Formats: sequence, C-alpha cells, structure tokens
Amino acid sequence: MTESAGSAESNVEPGLSVYDAIRRRRDVRAEFTGMPIAADVLERVLGAGHCAPSVGNTQPWDFVVVRDPRTLDRFADHVADARLRFARSLPDERRQTFDPIKIEGIRESGMGVVVTYDRSRGGEHILGRHTVDDTGLFSAVLAIQNLWLAATAESVGVGWVSFYDESYLTELLGIPEPVRPIAWLCVGDVAEFQQVPDLERLGWRGRRPLADAVHLEKF
Ligand SMILES: Cc1cc2nc3c(=O)[nH]c(=O)nc-3n(C[C@H](O)[C@H](O)[C@H](O)COP(=O)(O)O)c2cc1C
Repeated sequence: MTESAGSAESNVEPGLSVYDAIRRRRDVRAEFTGMPIAADVLERVLGAGHCAPSVGNTQPWDFVVVRDPRTLDRFADHVADARLRFARSLPDERRQTFDPIKIEGIRESGMGVVVTYDRSRGGEHILGRHTVDDTGLFSAVLAIQNLWLAATAESVGVGWVSFYDESYLTELLGIPEPVRPIAWLCVGDVAEFQQVPDLERLGWRGRRPLADAVHLEKF
C-alpha cells in the first residue's frame, strides 16, 4: 500500500505483507539457534496474539511464557514419551517414515509460550457461543495464528507441540480450573525458515491443492 501525500501518520509497522508472512510461516522444529529473542519483539508478538477476534469479545486466551530450563526439560521428557507411544502405534511402513521426523524444539528454542483457553471468561451469556460452543476454543486458536504470523514477520520461529497429556501440562504450569492449555509453542530465534513443511519434505503428508478444498454452492 502506498501512503498518499499529506496523510496522517501511519500506524502500519514496516515488515512483511500479510501474504508474505503467510507464505513464509513454517512450523519450526530443527532450526532454532537458542539465541534469546528481544523483549520488545516478544511483546509485539504476544500483542499480535492478543489482537485476535473472539466470540462475544471474550478474549479467552492467556499466554504463559516458560523459560526455566528445568520446566523445559520436564516437558521435553514428557513429550518424548508421548512420541514413543505414537511411534509404537504405527504400522511398520509409517513408523519408518515417522522415525526421522523431529516433532518439537522445546529445549533448543529456549522458550515455550503456552496458550490457554478459559471457558469461564465473560460469564454465562456469551454472545455468539450460545449456538456453537466451540467458538470459544476457535477464538483462542485465532490468537495462536496471529501470534504465529507476527512471529514470522519478526523472523522468529514458532513450533506447535501437541504430543502431551493435557493433565500433565496443566499440573506442570499450575493452570487453574477451568482453564485448559491448548498449545505449547516453541518460540525462538531461527537460522532459517524451511520452504517446504517438514512433514511434506520427509514424506509423511503433502499439501492438498486449493481446488480440492474449495466447493461451490454445496459441499
Ligand atoms: C493443532 C496443531 C498441532 C500440531 N502439533 C504438532 C506437534 O505436536 N509436533 C509437530 O512437530 N508439529 C505439530 N504441528 C505442526 C504441523 O505438523 C504443521 O503445521 C504441518 O505439518 C504443516 O507445516 P507448516 O506449519 O510448516 O506449514 C501442529 C500444528 C497444529 C495446527
């Protein structure tokens, strides 16, 4: 977008276009450098998450920033067990494809941002959730996508880890009822962004063509 001459000061921060950020975004696992990210960058990335739309404007998310190496170690050990359980559940051929795939960068990133969902936020009468209860959860997930794209625009990597038991993570971080952890995001400085998703590069599953996902008039 070009600014017209004499216009008021722009609020738009310089950086990638939203399309560039969408194209560049990757789930990062192996490319974390371990270098800390600057406090102002983290603030902007979390701020972007916090700008997400939400049902009834409930803003049901919270962000728990975890840097204590002992917590990272404990969570990484738990995730390693969950990975093993999944590997063992696979038929031989799938297991061979899965084995070399890295599924987290918990220690290497040096930081986890755990996004939680609080169903009780906003009280009982949630405008828009009375018909579709999942809209609360959808809202928290939108905060994650905002955060992920903003991080990409800042050249910060994000990797979503879901190989965990919810009750374990709830206890590990002292998350009170009825708040649920919905994602552990490894967040950190990266050497590079892969151009092709790991799961596609390593033969697990590729992307569907857009034409297969678009339906006209009826499903
Ligand atoms: C809800 C959700 C959970 C995910 N859980 C994991 C995970 O536990 N481990 C992992 O390596 N990647 C995980 N991913 C990342 C996906 O594997 C990744 O987004 C997908 O392969 C496409 O790659 P891309 O994000 O680089 O485009 C998760 C992604 C989402 C949206």
